[in-house]
Amino acid sequence: RKSAPLPDDIRAMKGGPPIVSLTAYTTPMAQMMDAHCDFVLVGDSVGMVLHGLPSTLGVTMEMMILHGKAVARGLSRAMMVLDMPFGSYEESPQQAFANAARLMAETGAGAIKLEGGRHMAETIAFLVARGVPVMAHIGLTPQSINTLGGYRVQGRGDAAEALMGDARAVSEAGAFSVVLEKVPAALADQITAEIPIPTIGIGASVNCDGQILVVDDMLGLFTAFKPKFVKRYASLGTDGEAAIASYAQEVRARAFPGPEHTFADKAPT
Ligand code: KIV
Ligand code: NA
Repeated sequence: RKSAPLPDDIRAMKGGPPIVSLTAYTTPMAQMMDAHCDFVLVGDSVGMVLHGLPSTLGVTMEMMILHGKAVARGLSRAMMVLDMPFGSYEESPQQAFANAARLMAETGAGAIKLEGGRHMAETIAFLVARGVPVMAHIGLTPQSINTLGGYRVQGRGDAAEALMGDARAVSEAGAFSVVLEKVPAALADQITAEIPIPTIGIGASVNCDGQILVVDDMLGLFTAFKPKFVKRYASLGTDGEAAIASYAQEVRARAFPGPEHTFADKAPT
């Protein structure tokens, strides 16, 4: 694909080749994934991954705008989706629209993502009717950690029907896709089969219409904890610390900088 896909292009990938996505928070990371991902999510996970916050609850509009602008500078091909931070959309559809419009206008994002199922359906419909494409996010919704009571698998047993209802509700409200986080694989498969919009799995099922991971998790850069659903494709955290230890040792041994890293009085002719 040459030009950036639109939300409708992502929607049209339902049932086709899997949709590939990752989170990104900075320009260089966005550049690394631009050629490989269909869309890139500026997730509110940025608060935990880059800013050391204990949860996503402290993430602000200003943080999302700053990182959204940085990611936009690194993308020429992939679509950018921006998370709405906690407290910026839950109060009313009007509040959600004002903040979504600001996020899109200031960052150039083509779509926003918000957390919640049935109880957010009215807001999703309100946004979509006013030009804001919405990606929904159901199952484990980290902004509700204090009422969910932990980062547990959602939709097990009797809770499956309610989660299926959430999936139907966000789809009927006009979301162009939905993230399924930490739900049983069989339920993710049922949802994927039943709703007409793409499901993007994280800790869900290989049969979802697409997959997403936090890039720092899959690169082994964020090592504070590793959920079961993360696969590490690199160990940049341990590689990076080993490189820093070598640098420290060479500086202390006066082995760095070498002659090739320093300058003569006169430039060579
Ligand atoms: O903030 C985030 O990184 C996310 C994805 C993991 C879906 O919401
Ligand atoms: Na998020």
